[in-house]
Amino acid sequence: MEKKKTTFNKRRVVSFILLATLMMMPVSGVYVHVTHGTVASHQWLHTHVLFGVLFVVAGIYHVVYHWKVLKQYLTGKK
Ligand code: HEM
Ligand code: HEM
Repeated sequence: MEKKKTTFNKRRVVSFILLATLMMMPVSGVYVHVTHGTVASHQWLHTHVLFGVLFVVAGIYHVVYHWKVLKQYLTGKK
């Protein structure tokens, strides 16, 4: 499955972006909530949605890059 080991690997980069944005989602989301009704809330919401879009895009790439192995897990077939 794994090809030649290189320092730059797009699957690894995408997985890392996914992890980093995943950590940002609850943090920025909670800030949206606790600053509700203020100017800061509006800015936190932009931050939240910006990371959210990255999160969704990276998530789609992540699933596509691991599609073969994911299909094996879902069907139980090798
Ligand atoms: C934000 C959530 C997620 C994070 C942080 C994450 C992170 C990772 C990491 C670090 C790896 C191993 C590195 C690599 O092979 O690139 C991996 C592998 C994988 N991920 Fe995710 N992942 C997430 C969500 C998902 C979701 C939602 C799916 C399926 C719908 C999924 C399916 C897979 C599959 C199939 C592999 C390969 C496993 C293998 O090689 O046996 N991941 N993920
Ligand atoms: C792990 C993923 C996520 C977590 C934990 C999370 C968490 C939260 C939290 C706590 C709030 C505040 C709700 C409130 O003020 O009552 C919120 C609001 C919001 N989130 Fe997320 N969120 C996530 C993913 C996303 C994504 C992917 C998007 C879209 C790209 C998104 C868009 C929004 C928007 C637009 C609001 C504002 C809703 C409103 O105040 O009317 N979120 N989120």
